[in-house]
Amino acid sequence: MPKEEIINLALRRGLFYPAAEIYPNSPSGFWDFGPDGETIRRKIVEFWRNELVEKEHFVEIYGAQILPEAVFKASGHLDSFNDPIVQCNKCKSLNRADKIIADVTKGIVPESMSTPELDSLIKKHNVKCPKCKSDQLDKVKTFNMMMKVNIGATGDLTSYLRPETCQSIFLDFARVYKTSRQTLPLGIAQAGASFRNEIAPRNTLLRERELGQMEIEIFFDPDKINDFEKFDDVKDYKLNLMLLKDGKVSKVKCSDAVKKKIVSGKLVAYYLARVQQLYERYGIPTEKIRFRELDDDERAFYAKETWDFEIETDLGWIELIANNYRTDYDLKGHSAGSKQDLSVVENGKKFMPHVFEISAGIDRTFYVLLDNAFKKEKRGPEERSFLDLNPRIAPYLVAVFPLVKKDGIKEKAEELYQLLNSYEFDSYYDEKGSIGKRYARVDEIGVPYVITVDYDTMKDGTVTLRERNSMEQKRVKIDTLPELLWKLHLGKTTIKEI
Ligand code: GLY
Repeated sequence: MPKEEIINLALRRGLFYPAAEIYPNSPSGFWDFGPDGETIRRKIVEFWRNELVEKEHFVEIYGAQILPEAVFKASGHLDSFNDPIVQCNKCKSLNRADKIIADVTKGIVPESMSTPELDSLIKKHNVKCPKCKSDQLDKVKTFNMMMKVNIGATGDLTSYLRPETCQSIFLDFARVYKTSRQTLPLGIAQAGASFRNEIAPRNTLLRERELGQMEIEIFFDPDKINDFEKFDDVKDYKLNLMLLKDGKVSKVKCSDAVKKKIVSGKLVAYYLARVQQLYERYGIPTEKIRFRELDDDERAFYAKETWDFEIETDLGWIELIANNYRTDYDLKGHSAGSKQDLSVVENGKKFMPHVFEISAGIDRTFYVLLDNAFKKEKRGPEERSFLDLNPRIAPYLVAVFPLVKKDGIKEKAEELYQLLNSYEFDSYYDEKGSIGKRYARVDEIGVPYVITVDYDTMKDGTVTLRERNSMEQKRVKIDTLPELLWKLHLGKTTIKEI
């Protein structure tokens, strides 16, 4: 769906909107989520938790968002978490140098490119200021994206908002390893906010200054990367891999990816498969999914191997997850920085665990699920739009509407709404306006089922159950509803089968 349509839908239905929007000049790149948007966002995280974290027996932590300077000296972020920026000497606007070059060359500009290399690309391609179109661009400079906070009454405890949630996972590793009573491989997960001082936030939830992340760090013995029993569950599963060697997406069996050394080992192939399966279950068609292999100079400074998990949208391919083999980079850095030994001893061997990371964007997932789910269709003279969301991601499973407010129908509908709530179904009640407008509203926020209470309900205890996509309606008895809705929620039956 075009970006403008997503923004219109988000504003019209209050899904998300700019933070502090009632004040002029509020900084961009910060977003608030309204009631239905917040519920969808929370369910995206809950889905990840149920389908990946819990199924894989990972453990989850909650880490502080502000961490001391020493952490980011050791992690490398103070030295290396930089963006190249260039100022226009005429209009004074600031831009990301790699971005404005890529806009002209239509190619990818590697992250590791030095500032003189970027300067020469600007010259070679005659790149102009995107704002005033002048060619008076200054020299490219590096800009650190960390957000500083001064803690304490004197403000001398320099700290930073974390730029990636995973730093708390590395800091907590030794304690979690000890207290969780697990041996390696040990997966530690966390969902929360990270902060990056982006020069040019853009495309709403796709490049933010405060971003939601769902991160998992899997700590393992590097000598056992191929000693991974669970691999057999996915050995014949096909990954959509876009390999550097030919730039094409091929379907590669996990067993072949390991055999041909396309990935570092079975553990990596296994988790790439779990990531692809997770997003297929969210509702993304397999042909819109790819893992893009990153070149040496495209990878982040801590990664030895990276597979960007990307999904095709109206804006092109969007990166949702960085799957990084971070080796022992982080634990080694924090061991040296903190002077604490973060190595482990297993089977008489002392070693520093290696880390495979699955770093997913919550808000990017939100945007992409909307892009994928938004549908418009013509039904006779009428056009309608709806969100074809997975029922587990929809803000409500079911809406309850009284056809009219009189003759006891409103009270019956309220009673049914309370009954469904007592079964813990996420339910929504609306009695205002025409029934058509009420359907249109819940269709657009993705509610999969609507129950209408009418005059027949008062006579025979039945209601109509309507399904969002097909608009098919069935007449069902109220006392069958709890079991029926539970089966519909879990995909164990369909409206056609009722
Ligand atoms: N932790 C990896 C990232 O934030 O991209």
